[in-house]
This record gives sequence, C-alpha cells and structure tokens, in this order.
Amino acid sequence: MMPDLPNAFWYQEDALYCEQAALADIAARAGTPCYVYSLRAVLERFAAYQEGLSGLPHLVCYAVKANSNLHLLAMLAKAGAGFDVVSAGELFRVIRAGGDPARVVFSGVGKTADEIEYALARGIHSFNCESDSEVALIDALAARRGVRARIAIRVNPHVEAGAHPYISTGLRQHKFGIDFSEVEDVYRRALACPNVVAEGVSCHIGSQILNPERIFEAVDRMLELVARLRGMGLPIRHLDLGGGLGVAYKPGDRTPDIREFAGWIRRKVEGADLFLMLEPGRSIVGEAGALLTRVLYRKRTPSREFIVVDAAMTDLIRPSLYQSYHEILPVRRSSRGTVLADVVGPVCESGDFLALDREMPNVLPGDLLAVCTAGAYGFVLSSNYNARPRPPEILVEGDAWRTVRVRETFEDLIRGESL
Ligand code: LLP
Repeated sequence: MMPDLPNAFWYQEDALYCEQAALADIAARAGTPCYVYSLRAVLERFAAYQEGLSGLPHLVCYAVKANSNLHLLAMLAKAGAGFDVVSAGELFRVIRAGGDPARVVFSGVGKTADEIEYALARGIHSFNCESDSEVALIDALAARRGVRARIAIRVNPHVEAGAHPYISTGLRQHKFGIDFSEVEDVYRRALACPNVVAEGVSCHIGSQILNPERIFEAVDRMLELVARLRGMGLPIRHLDLGGGLGVAYKPGDRTPDIREFAGWIRRKVEGADLFLMLEPGRSIVGEAGALLTRVLYRKRTPSREFIVVDAAMTDLIRPSLYQSYHEILPVRRSSRGTVLADVVGPVCESGDFLALDREMPNVLPGDLLAVCTAGAYGFVLSSNYNARPRPPEILVEGDAWRTVRVRETFEDLIRGESL
C-alpha cells in the first residue's frame, strides 16, 4: 500500500510552500520558530478514514493528544470527527472547540475521580477502562449521578507493534490494558456493576506502525474476543481499535494508504454487527505540519560541524526523546552544496538537537529551515524550559494563512506565579 495523498509541503521553483503559501512569507511575518499546518492535509486524511469505512456504522475519534490546537479541533468536529481524549483537559478543549461530547471516548490508564465526574457530567460516549478498580470507580460515580456509563475494556492483545519502545503499548510488560488471559473475568465483574454498561472492547497496540499487518493481527484477536464474550452472554456492541498508523518521517518511508487500510478493517468487521471506532492521531496531523526555524549560527569544533537554529527541544522534543528522524528542508534551495552537521537548538542540554550527523544543505545564518512531519506530537509536547516562550501555530488554507495560536509572551511565562 502506498500513500495516495499529495504532500502539503512542496517546492515551487526553489521556494518551499505549504499549500499555496510561501513559507518564507509566513516566517517573515509570524517570526520563528513557528509551527505551520495545512488544513487541507488534515481534512484529506480524516476524509480518507471516513471513505474507507463508509457503509459500516463507525466513528473516527481523532486522538486529541497528537495536536490539540483549538482551531484544528473545530475543523475536525465540523468534518464529523469524534474525539479520543486522555484527560479532562482534552475534553474541555474538545467542548470549547465545538465538539460533541457524545462523540468522545475517554482513554488512559489513570483517570482521576474528578476527571470521570467531569466526563459523566458532559455525557461522553464511553470510557475505555484499564483496570477493575477503574470500572468500580466509574460505577460508583455514575450511581451518584443517577446515570449508566458506557464502558469498553481496553485489552492488551500481545501484538508487537515494532515502533520505538516508548510508543509501543501492546505487550505483556506494558502498563496499558487488561491482559488477554484475564479479560473475561474483568467483564464478568463489570457485568455485576449496575451503573456501567460493559458493551465495548478496545485496544491500541502502539504508535508509528508502518506495517499494518500488526494492526490486522490485533483486529483478528479482538474479533475472536468479541465472539467469546458474546458467547458468555455479554452484549458487546462496539469495537475500538485505537490509533497507531504511521507516517513518513524519512524520504523513503513507505506508509500504509489510509483509505485502503480503513477499507480492510471495514471488510473484516462487516457482518460482525459492531459499531467500529478508531482513534487515529499521528496519521491525521503528522504530515500536515512543519516547524519553521531560522539558522542563528554556524559553528565548527575540531570534531564536529554545527548548525545552530532558533528552534529547540522545547519546541520539538521528538528527536531528543525518541531519537526520531525528522526531515529538514531548506525553505529556499541553493546551489551551495551540502555539509555533514548536527542541527542544534539554544537550550543548555547536549540532548537539544533536531538532527545528528545529517547531510544538510550548506545553510548560512539567517536562512530558514523546515523541520518536516511535525504536526503530530510537536507543539503538544513543547515546554517553557529555559524560559522559552512557546511558538505560534499557523494554519494555512490555500494561499491564505492565519495565526491560530499566538506566540507566548514573557508575561505568559510567569502567569500564575506570585512574588
Ligand atoms: N489511542 C490511544 C489509547 C493512544 O494511547 C494513542 C497514542 C492514540 C490513540 C493515537 O495514536 P496515533 O494514531 O497517534 O499513533 N509522543 C509519541 C507518541 C505517543 C503515542 C501515545 N498514544 C511520539 O511523538 O511519537
């Protein structure tokens, strides 16, 4: 399966564009570092899921954790998305963006009582539960409110997702989910809770999965489980397969085609009388975003060549945290050749880099670079370390663009503190 969606970032002559907007213009007006997102790319990917699943009763719940920008959430809500949240804060964002709580699923291994109450009060679709004690707590809080809460048990299907160890979640040793061997007992106990309706099963085996066979394997196991649970008399109605589809970070990365992938799942699930839910995050927003940064200095030590830029691990932590590769493109291509260099930021940590030992265009101070595939787990993982204001977020639509989150100010840095 090969991707069939055009890249939102492309060269016209030697200038890099997002859709029809020149990145050099955006950087000149919005400043750097800044995140730039293509609205078209986001909506196309969401639509590809919808088309692949069409005909099957389903809900594509965009995983808010990947990029929780309010404007993006609003656009996805308008396009018909549901949402997967992992905190009351994310649910607050969804509601503020105009999302329908009845289309929200609440995942996560450590929901607090306050968060469960918040979600119950707003009438979310369901909770994905990860332990007996969580089910018991939801039951008690739902009873107090006089409602019945729909739940799914998150099952650990023991499938190796093959991504970085920090983002693979479906193995026995992980904190996530209920072990396959114990799942029937957990459902049996849930059945005895009068204020929960245990009508779903869910799983999520990991993230940045480039081989869809891994997910297909999990689907087979989950369908077997549904049959087993129904055999026990449980009224299983929905199946949530989580997210996890990977995106292209390196030029040669082959990524699954979303429409084909979703179509495959539809054919598998069709006929099983199930409401299907998916929780894609990265595959919807990852390729739709880039981080623009300006070269501050070139620096050579006896052993290395450095390109010092104004973006840091505080803006994009993925290279430092997961040793992940992000393609870095010049915003203007030149004929100055290439250089083997580390691309590093201003933060006082050796781990502050965007690329190591990379064949880079021979850029000079003042030149602009675009760190690609930064739309997912980019801004959301940013921090104020070293008292760095967080960058703005820009949304491009055709040749127009607007700031959908402004750059933080010094005042923002001290908000809530007192002397
Ligand atoms: N559902 C659940 C329950 C999840 O835990 C996740 C991601 C998703 C859905 C969305 O998965 P996606 O479609 O985005 O792969 N910060 C890491 C990724 C952490 C993913 C955590 N869970 C990174 O930057 O690679």
